Amino acid sequence: MSLKTVILGVGAYLPARVLTNTELSQRVDTSDAWIIERTGIRERRIAGETERTSDLAIAAARQALERAGRDGKDIDLIIVATTTPDLTFPATAARVQAALRAQGAAFDLQAVCSGFIFALTTADNFLARGQAKRALVIGAETFSRILDWDDRGTCVLFGDGAGAVVVEAQSEAEANGRGVLSTFIRTDGRMHDLLYTDGGPSQTGTVGKVRMVGNAVFRQAVEHISGAMLEACARADTPIDAVDWFVPHQANQRILDGVARKLGISTEKVISTVALHGNTSAASVPLALEAAISDGRIKQGDLVLMEALGGGLTWGAALARL
Ligand code: ACO
Repeated sequence: MSLKTVILGVGAYLPARVLTNTELSQRVDTSDAWIIERTGIRERRIAGETERTSDLAIAAARQALERAGRDGKDIDLIIVATTTPDLTFPATAARVQAALRAQGAAFDLQAVCSGFIFALTTADNFLARGQAKRALVIGAETFSRILDWDDRGTCVLFGDGAGAVVVEAQSEAEANGRGVLSTFIRTDGRMHDLLYTDGGPSQTGTVGKVRMVGNAVFRQAVEHISGAMLEACARADTPIDAVDWFVPHQANQRILDGVARKLGISTEKVISTVALHGNTSAASVPLALEAAISDGRIKQGDLVLMEALGGGLTWGAALARL
């Protein structure tokens, strides 16, 4: 029997502290106008001093569970996509599991900004094989902790937050057309030095700070994101015109616009939260999904194409009927 991965509920959490471009311009040589023109970002959220990635993840997960009408004990798989875990080990997902009193397996997944797409793809495979019944797929980041606040080329781009989805394996009859229709993920490790941290447990014994060749990443982004979106559609035998909503990773408004232009997509169908969230890495896709469901744009039954590109380089896309 073929099983479908149906999205039952979506949740989000943003820390209270808002950091504006103007505040940043008091710290590094930048301006509100430059940041808006080059990125579309106006502000971002920053986690409180005692707030950990797991706290953000748990808050988003609780909201997703509530909206799904489920409880932590109904969950038998948790995947937390993060680049900023609480600790080197154990996995942030272990803390999330304990807080929610969930069962089964829980682990972290590291694909930087593509993390949520990789995690959803992984969960989809677990559910399709009957290895889990109900999963929490979470993207959660405290990226502010690994930024070099003196590097204007990176510190203006990122923010903190978490998004979560509850997915359930259902028979085709039960799913009735809903569920993940296709996924596509790729890594090209030859470009590992375009976006990285200059430290880590094995190499330096430190956490390190984000380093990026921004314009090179930008050039790769439009090409690979467009390709991933087309591939996900092809795998589901669905024309891109049939997609109701595009939910991209929120790196830069110019990347969102460039992809839309390349694929001939109306920008009205592209969900953008980059102005208010900045780039929240693995959290950005579920945060954008949640925002567009909450404001009534995305409804049950809509066809949604999610996509991302990040360090690795990694990239991917997932097509789902909500
Ligand atoms: N304020 C003012 N000037 C700045 C700032 C800043 N915050 N940052 C860089 N500059 C300067 C540079 O120093 C450079 O000055 P110079 O010409 O005197 O040397 C000038 O602006 C142009 O720099 P570029 O890097 O070529 O500027 P670009 O137009 O490419 O914009 C940006 C930079 C916004 C980082 C862009 O390349 C970008 O968004 N790249 C994508 C990277 C990204 O989003 N990474 C996130 C993870 S991957 C992903 O999520 C897709």
